[in-house]
Amino acid sequence: MTGKIAVITGANRGLGLATATELARRGYSVVMSARQKSDADQAAKPLLAEGLDVHTGELDISSDASVEAFFAWLGERFGRIDVLVNNAGEVFERRDPRTSQVDASLMLKAFNTNALGPWRMMQKALPMMNAQGFGRIVNLTSGMGQLSEMGGGNPAYRVSKTGVNAMTIIMAHEAAPGVKINTVCPGWVRTEMGGPRATRDIDEGIAGIVWAATLEDDGPTGGFFRDGKRLDW
Ligand SMILES: NC(=O)c1ccc[n+]([C@@H]2O[C@H](COP(=O)([O-])OP(=O)(O)OC[C@H]3O[C@@H](n4cnc5c(N)ncnc54)[C@H](OP(=O)(O)O)[C@@H]3O)[C@@H](O)[C@H]2O)c1
Repeated sequence: MTGKIAVITGANRGLGLATATELARRGYSVVMSARQKSDADQAAKPLLAEGLDVHTGELDISSDASVEAFFAWLGERFGRIDVLVNNAGEVFERRDPRTSQVDASLMLKAFNTNALGPWRMMQKALPMMNAQGFGRIVNLTSGMGQLSEMGGGNPAYRVSKTGVNAMTIIMAHEAAPGVKINTVCPGWVRTEMGGPRATRDIDEGIAGIVWAATLEDDGPTGGFFRDGKRLDW
């Protein structure tokens, strides 16, 4: 056991579940959070059967109250957070819409979950990590949020992920030495979000996430990576 507490958002399926599994196998005490506690409990069953140290919690990153309640529970239960993987995210628009087909309310919805969700989590986690002098935060983003490769379509998802990239840089400037905050694109991965035609399997997708979550003390911070390789913003 590493004695380190890792919190994963959206850990009930997809990349979140696979990341939780891998970190638990590497000796982390993993808090698997999900919108529905029952989904987290269900996902945790095989990990518990494997003898892994996993815990479950209810957390909707789009809600101030839910994030507040989650951190109150976490503080009482563990008193620290060493790793935060801001994995939870959603594509709200369907079938690659053009900007003219996406109204402002959908833009706000995507921003509230995909950008403000990680921001809410970092707002709570960073002071704890700064006080400890240790922390690793991994924000899941996407090539679709990359300004240097920006294309048309899916404006809500794209802009929300660009927001996460900006927040990563801002928060990294506010982090104490020993706290590393990076943003990771997993590539196009075969999950419910990525669909069956995606080019990567889940193990390929999580490699870069796990790398950023377990960075050594001399690792980078405030950067954007895929498979541990730096990307242009
Ligand atoms: N798959 C890809 O190709 C790809 C590419 C680039 C980036 N990403 C990013 O990688 C991350 C994980 O994606 P994935 O492919 O594993 O997607 P997924 O299979 O669709 O899983 C998404 C997870 O996020 C959770 N979630 C959504 N909204 C939430 C909220 N408000 N509060 C808490 N949990 C919430 C979902 O919970 P429910 O089960 O309750 O819905 C689910 O657990 C996302 O941030 C995504 O944008 C994925």
